[in-house]
Amino acid sequence: MAYENIIVETKGHVGLITLNRPKALNALSQALIAELGKALDGFEADDDIGAIVLTGSEKAFAAGADIKEMASKTFTQCYLEDFITKGWEAVSKVRKPVIAAVAGYALGGGCEVAMMCDFILAADTAKFGQPEITLGVIPGAGGTQRLTRLVGKSKAMEMILTGRMMDAQEAERSGLVSRIVPAGELLEEALKVAERIASMGRPSVLAAKEAVERAYESTLAEGVRFERRLFHALFSTDDQKEGMAAFAEKRQPNFKNR
Ligand code: HXC
Repeated sequence: MAYENIIVETKGHVGLITLNRPKALNALSQALIAELGKALDGFEADDDIGAIVLTGSEKAFAAGADIKEMASKTFTQCYLEDFITKGWEAVSKVRKPVIAAVAGYALGGGCEVAMMCDFILAADTAKFGQPEITLGVIPGAGGTQRLTRLVGKSKAMEMILTGRMMDAQEAERSGLVSRIVPAGELLEEALKVAERIASMGRPSVLAAKEAVERAYESTLAEGVRFERRLFHALFSTDDQKEGMAAFAEKRQPNFKNR
């Protein structure tokens, strides 16, 4: 399909999605979100793709939901269309790993979409914030929950109550992002990391993602039990035999995703 608000490309075994509404700092309009959902579905269904990178521009990953589009919404409209569950949560439902490569602003819904990804690689120019309070609302796409789990109550509360932004250094210090890279190298590094993930056996990649996610949804005992069952199950895969044989034979594994 033809996309108007995003650019969708394949780089080796990586699906690359670039948010592309430069005039609005990649504000997440309904049309953009619908396209994002379609692109993610496409990569999810494509056997050649093992990981996905989601990025924006040098100036903005995304400056939030489209304020101009939502300004006149009524409660009834929001409620009936269940604003924002449709489309937005596609990012958190993808089973293949999704890396957010963030340069510039990741604000409001932009920060929330980045946090729905499996991890965030930040350029040294990245700025994160939940400024919804300054618009008379609160985060609506998981910000109060995910930011709190990622950086802890005190910092999340301060950011959400004041709208203060965090720079890349503070974001790394507080665990919001996995690493900071120089802005000029962000995309190259994100694609390299994604290609490495795509080169692993897919059953173990999906299982690893599912197991880490379970840490957020369960008690420690249940999570550890879930992990162990998946760990056992992976011994039924050809990739486990190949991975361990390759180690013994001192060669690189050749995973077949089965
Ligand atoms: C619509 C936006 C936008 C947004 C920027 N623009 N952010 N349009 N929605 N979220 C538009 C501006 O109106 C402007 O268009 C153009 O992009 C460039 O932005 P400027 O403000 O001129 O740029 P700058 O001075 O560099 O300031 C950058 C900025 C500022 C600090 C990021 O744009 C800003 O504060 N944006 C809003 C951030 C925000 O409040 N996000 C939360 C949204 S609520 P024109 O046509 O004037 O040139 C949200 C709720 C999510 O996300 C809940 C789930 C749905």
